[in-house]
Amino acid sequence: MSLLDLGTDLLRRVDPETAHRAAVRGLALLPGASSAKPDPILATGLAGLQLPSPVGLAAGLDKDGEAIGGLGRLGFGFVECGSVTPRPQEGNPKPRLFRLSEDGAVINRMGFNNRGLEAFAARLSRRPLGVIVGANLGANKDTEDKAADYVAGLKRLAGLADYFTVNVSSPNTPGLRALQGREALDDLLGRVAEARGPQPVFLKIAPDLTADEIGLIVEAALAWGIDGLIVSNTTLERPAELTSPQRAESGGLSGAPLKPIARRALAAAVEAAQGRLPLISAGGIDSGQEALTRLGMGASAVQLYSALVYAGPGLVRRINADLAKRLRAEGFASVAEAVGTAC
Ligand code: FNR
Repeated sequence: MSLLDLGTDLLRRVDPETAHRAAVRGLALLPGASSAKPDPILATGLAGLQLPSPVGLAAGLDKDGEAIGGLGRLGFGFVECGSVTPRPQEGNPKPRLFRLSEDGAVINRMGFNNRGLEAFAARLSRRPLGVIVGANLGANKDTEDKAADYVAGLKRLAGLADYFTVNVSSPNTPGLRALQGREALDDLLGRVAEARGPQPVFLKIAPDLTADEIGLIVEAALAWGIDGLIVSNTTLERPAELTSPQRAESGGLSGAPLKPIARRALAAAVEAAQGRLPLISAGGIDSGQEALTRLGMGASAVQLYSALVYAGPGLVRRINADLAKRLRAEGFASVAEAVGTAC
């Protein structure tokens, strides 16, 4: 067991939010991106970004961009920080983060706790080189014109992040998910198109949408020049097989039980996009096999978060190594060659 994994074992015994803070602090102390680059077969392109691995960190772990170097060291091909809102906010009252250990799942209703754009910009301007960093943008709880907050994020962080994610799918900010409807989305994406710079802009959607709704979002994304879709955020569903006593907590569910739901949403996005829009799959990814499955379904890259809570930070290197082995075993010379092969 590595020192990092031993740390994870200890952290699992304390309350989840304390463990989360300690993990981010610990990662922040690790020196910058290591020289041990992932296997070259994992190098791949995504909307113009050159990723050393298609396995990225999903938003929510490093909300304020504090631990970018340490996270890069774990082997992530890209690290998405945030969600960040224009003004700092406390988020929801604690407890707001729950481990569903029996189910390999997490429920959170954090509510975009973060230190705001100014602090985020300061961190990003001092970030270590050699890690691809995304800024995931959110809206303040008390902002009426939510689209204005995404515009503020794009403008303030212009040139500081390698890519941006417009997150309209967190379930813990009232009104946010309503931005996924076509009319609200057209207004939002029109204003995003005006405010953005040259860096790729991704749109992150909920898994709790019908195939038709996902189809409309794909068309809107294409119409407004969005560079990719992240599918998906946490779910409001509570699958019947959940057994943990915490399953009735309100908030977004992630981890193992999200796997089939996220796959279903990805399949709908693949079907609608027909190769016209890069897709990034998130939700229950916990192994090289699962990463390869999502690539095969048509995702160009993947992201994970919850599996780290259970498997520890050594998981990222294990997934990279396993994915590289599986690509070779199946006769692929690159990640890109594997994308969409199972369609
Ligand atoms: C998240 N997620 C998230 N997503 C986002 O766009 N902005 C955010 O601020 C957060 N915050 C957040 C906090 C916590 C505690 C969790 C567990 C998750 C969602 C995350 O990025 C991802 O989309 C889902 O968790 C699904 O992936 P996993 O966790 O099943 O691998």
